Amino acid sequence: MLPAYVANMSAVKVGGGLPMDFGHVMRDGRRALGPGKTWRGFLLGGLLGTVLGGLLHAAASASGGLLTDFGGGASWVLVAGGLAYGALLGDAAKSFLKRRLGKERGHPWRGADQLDFVLGAWALAFGAGGVAVAAGLARSNWLLDTLTLPLAVIVLVVTPALHLATNRLGHRFGHKEVPW
Ligand code: CTP
Ligand code: MG
Repeated sequence: MLPAYVANMSAVKVGGGLPMDFGHVMRDGRRALGPGKTWRGFLLGGLLGTVLGGLLHAAASASGGLLTDFGGGASWVLVAGGLAYGALLGDAAKSFLKRRLGKERGHPWRGADQLDFVLGAWALAFGAGGVAVAAGLARSNWLLDTLTLPLAVIVLVVTPALHLATNRLGHRFGHKEVPW
């Protein structure tokens, strides 16, 4: 999950500039995604998450089976990139729904704010794992091999707590506007 966590956290630091929705206002009079989703946050945050995935992948092959890698050959790029960029796509999809529900940028939406990026990461990593199989880079889908049901439950329970704790710290040290 670390590529997803790092992508989601680093977007706060590296984000800014051109919004992903280009300022587009929908028929309901609200922004499509809002000013909190920027191309820089998406592209650079996703890149940082993917790079971390590469480091973990290298560490895994050196760890003698202690750490899980991201699949055979070059498929790690697809899988780690899927986790990282999927996290930010899930986050952006959540913002789209938030705006439709009339919630302003930065307003809390319990549950969704903490798990949007997990679901996005899993969805895109699943797709990327399928592409890796279709391209002959991997023999089976990394997500299905790695994410067992008990593991998925642990991630879904632990992530909201981790997310709230890191955001509170980020807020206290002036990196984030709101503590959630
Ligand atoms: N961020 C960004 N680009 C992204 C994601 C995040 O620039 N693709 C930055 C923005 O500065 C954003 C901050 O990270 O304000 C925190 O992200 P998040 O909590 O997801 O956004 P919110 O501002 O809370 O907006 P929303 O209500 O739409 O979730
Ligand atoms: Mg938020």
